[in-house]
Amino acid sequence: MLTPPTELLSNKTFLYDLIIENGLVMMPQGLVHTDVGVYQGKIVAFGGLKNAEAKQRLDVHGLHVLPGVIDSQVHFREPGLEYKEDLESGTRSAIAGGVTTVFEMPNTNPNTTTAEALAEKLRRCENRAWSNYAFYMGAAGTENAQAMAELELLKGCCGVKIFMGSSTGTLLVSEDSQLEAVLRSGRRRVAIHAEDEARLIERKPLVQTETARVQDHPHWRDVTSALRATQRILALGEKTKRPLHLLHITSAPEIELLAKNKHLTTVEVTPQHLTLFAPDCYDRMGTYAQMNPPIREKEHQDALWWGIQNGVVDVIGSDHAPHTKEEKAKPYPATPAGMTGVQTLVPLLLNHLHNGKLTLERLVDLTSYGPARVFNIMGKGRIALGYDADFTIVDLNAKRVITHAMMQSKVGWTPFDGMQVTGWATHTIVGGHIAMAEDELLGKPQGQVVQFWDTKAYH
Ligand code: DOR
Repeated sequence: MLTPPTELLSNKTFLYDLIIENGLVMMPQGLVHTDVGVYQGKIVAFGGLKNAEAKQRLDVHGLHVLPGVIDSQVHFREPGLEYKEDLESGTRSAIAGGVTTVFEMPNTNPNTTTAEALAEKLRRCENRAWSNYAFYMGAAGTENAQAMAELELLKGCCGVKIFMGSSTGTLLVSEDSQLEAVLRSGRRRVAIHAEDEARLIERKPLVQTETARVQDHPHWRDVTSALRATQRILALGEKTKRPLHLLHITSAPEIELLAKNKHLTTVEVTPQHLTLFAPDCYDRMGTYAQMNPPIREKEHQDALWWGIQNGVVDVIGSDHAPHTKEEKAKPYPATPAGMTGVQTLVPLLLNHLHNGKLTLERLVDLTSYGPARVFNIMGKGRIALGYDADFTIVDLNAKRVITHAMMQSKVGWTPFDGMQVTGWATHTIVGGHIAMAEDELLGKPQGQVVQFWDTKAYH
């Protein structure tokens, strides 16, 4: 049992804002059976706090208290496409599923490629964000490459995002010379969507036929498209000495390549690529399984798990990318790519834990410590004194069925409808406020903008 700071215990008048009691708490040294004292949004004490005074107590007997889950890849569509999602509904989906912090992507309308666009997103989050938040600055080739060194340091920016291949929206930096210009401007980690645009264009006719089906999606956007882009960006990262973060890796050859190049990049995979596989997902779900880069065959999924088990993968992000049912009902390939995911990330990973695919320690490494390390996040990612009081509290034994009806997302669907899972987030605590308890949202949005060590000096 740990002892809390004596000044807190001996001071009989000290009033904690919240005490989380009787939980099994995932601390940096492993699981500890302890109470956690919270004051002014921070973790201030561990130990037996039965006799301490608190405004609020939460008994979590039988549950595991994890550091707040950080989803470092979501698309929340505001401004411009609020009919699919907005910052309120997106962050509400996050806390409903046990996610306390999100990093949101720049392919909105307008794209987040200027200081004004970022400031506008931050303004729109005021009193509307249920989870904590930060935003990627989108690379727009020559348009903002020079400015990127300054843009990436702005308050609320988690890093730079590059689309090497066209996906949803208009952001694209496909040429090596332009990629190099972006990488040379600034120092923070650059998140990459690695699909080779030239090859995607060359192969597009494959799906522009009368008989094209969504089953063809992983053949159009094939493994070579992904591998080529990954090879090119690794070479440019090495040349420019710029740290990279390869998003949503999908294939066995990429995992093999990345395993040999961990000095150049960090790596993300998504729960959908770890859970669904081709052609089964396309046969069952049609275009609802369509995303970029695509869900591939089982052998590739096995390689992603190998990457998780061998430490190649640093983080799991949901790539929550909602599109309406009407949009998804169009004939392929007119359908947009992407699926919801922020609300199902935690239950899916807990279910994989239940099935022996990863340990609780590795799950926390991928969803809290990992993002904190990759993105240089200040005060998050672990349960330790002085850290932010963000917690994802889970019941490892709860059996639940994921349904469309549960989704807080505006689009109201999930690719995992009907799936039984073992493991569920029972409480989401954001900055010391209980935002979700037993599937109910509580109080008002209390999310805060995330701070980063590598930009601290500039704010
Ligand atoms: O499937 C995807 N959907 N992949 C992306 O890169 C973008 C995303 C979206 O915004 O819809």
